[in-house]
Amino acid sequence: MKLLTPTDYVGSIYDIDLNNLKKIGIKVVVLDIDNTLVPTSTKSPTEQVSSWIKNAQSKGFEVVLASNNSQNRVQTFNKDLNLFAIHRAAKPLKYGFKKIREKYGVSNREICMVGDQLFTDILGANLSGIMSILVMPLTKDEGAGIKFKRLIENIAVRKYKKETYCLIGNPVLHSKSAVLHNTVYNFYNMPARYLLCHTEKENLKQTVEKFINTGVKGFNITVPFKTDIIPHLDWISEDAKKIGSVNTVKIINKKCYGYNTDGDGFIMQLKSDGTTVKDSRIKIVGAGGSTMSIVYALVKEGAKNIIIYNRTIEKAKQIAENYSNVAALPLDEFSAMDCEILINTTSVGLFPDVDSSPVESLDGISKDTAVYDIIYSPPETKFMKMARKAGCKAYNGSKLLIYQGLIADEIWFERSIINKVLVEKISNKLIGGNENE
Ligand code: ATR
Repeated sequence: MKLLTPTDYVGSIYDIDLNNLKKIGIKVVVLDIDNTLVPTSTKSPTEQVSSWIKNAQSKGFEVVLASNNSQNRVQTFNKDLNLFAIHRAAKPLKYGFKKIREKYGVSNREICMVGDQLFTDILGANLSGIMSILVMPLTKDEGAGIKFKRLIENIAVRKYKKETYCLIGNPVLHSKSAVLHNTVYNFYNMPARYLLCHTEKENLKQTVEKFINTGVKGFNITVPFKTDIIPHLDWISEDAKKIGSVNTVKIINKKCYGYNTDGDGFIMQLKSDGTTVKDSRIKIVGAGGSTMSIVYALVKEGAKNIIIYNRTIEKAKQIAENYSNVAALPLDEFSAMDCEILINTTSVGLFPDVDSSPVESLDGISKDTAVYDIIYSPPETKFMKMARKAGCKAYNGSKLLIYQGLIADEIWFERSIINKVLVEKISNKLIGGNENE
């Protein structure tokens, strides 16, 4: 069975961590074509495939095509790509890899095979001592022979693969969630991995079905699908129902259970900073997606009253009308006076717009007001700078991101995950990452 076990198992080529491949010394990435790059019936590469290949090349990788298919099929596919391509590669035999070693003067340890089939791509790589990455096949539209192979593959992969968790959204590729969750799994030595899955709105249903059918155990949802996902779920928690959005789904026996961990994540951040919600007067600037979950959690936690200020007053009113102690006011009536907690939930100040603040001034703010910005890039927003200048403590959104993720992991794994050392570790990793994201 070991010979059928891939080194790594991901959703699609877009989930491959090229930087990591670089780090471990891979120089040549060998790609299977059918059902790995494009569905079997697709004659030429999509724009997305071409740009993935260009990106890999720009990172210094040699990219090679290796297909068991005919010369005609491979040449047609390779017409514009102009890659070194092997047709009738006779996978799982070693023949193709020998050609690659000779062409690029590399050793087996510097090659990585990427494909969707265990009996050709993965077995072949393992027989040659080459790293392999198995991707989920792009279509199920396959002949009977391949279907039978898949059956055996599923048994093999289920036995050895790590449990898969995903983030769906649009865009997702710059999300820090993969770093966050994979740090958790490494920290506890859990056999799990977290992948990013770019999805279009019209494919949401198919994506959920794909997750169910391929044994994905759970997924997060980010903008703009936190509400759109609801009709595709079998059950949602009372909290998620009241908030009107879901950011975490657990899959059990092919059924999808939805939760919202954003609000609880925010409360956890406040607690970790020593900020008390109970009986506090709170002001929020912004009435977008995350405001709903934050307001819900603050009210539940015993806030005395909340005022939501928003440029579009209607959106603030829609949230406020669900609660007796929440009011809505237009943004131009904002005043920072008379509150213990002040929160920015707008996107104003987000990289690269780092010199903007959602409000012109914080005049009159008490230095005892705890100020929060849910933005984490840049780590200190203009809004936070203004607050610190007025003598207040100000916090960015990185802890919110971390806690909502850790609560999701606790839902998925039904065990305690949150731990001070781990939170610090993730925090350092996120801040150490690319600030542009
Ligand atoms: P959505 O509303 O689609 O959920 P969001 O990113 O969660 O989007 O929320 C964006 C928030 O930032 C909204 O409160 C938005 O105000 P509007 O409701 O008036 O659009 C606010 N926002 C974005 N740009 C802004 C700006 N230049 N000035 C003030 N508020 C702004």
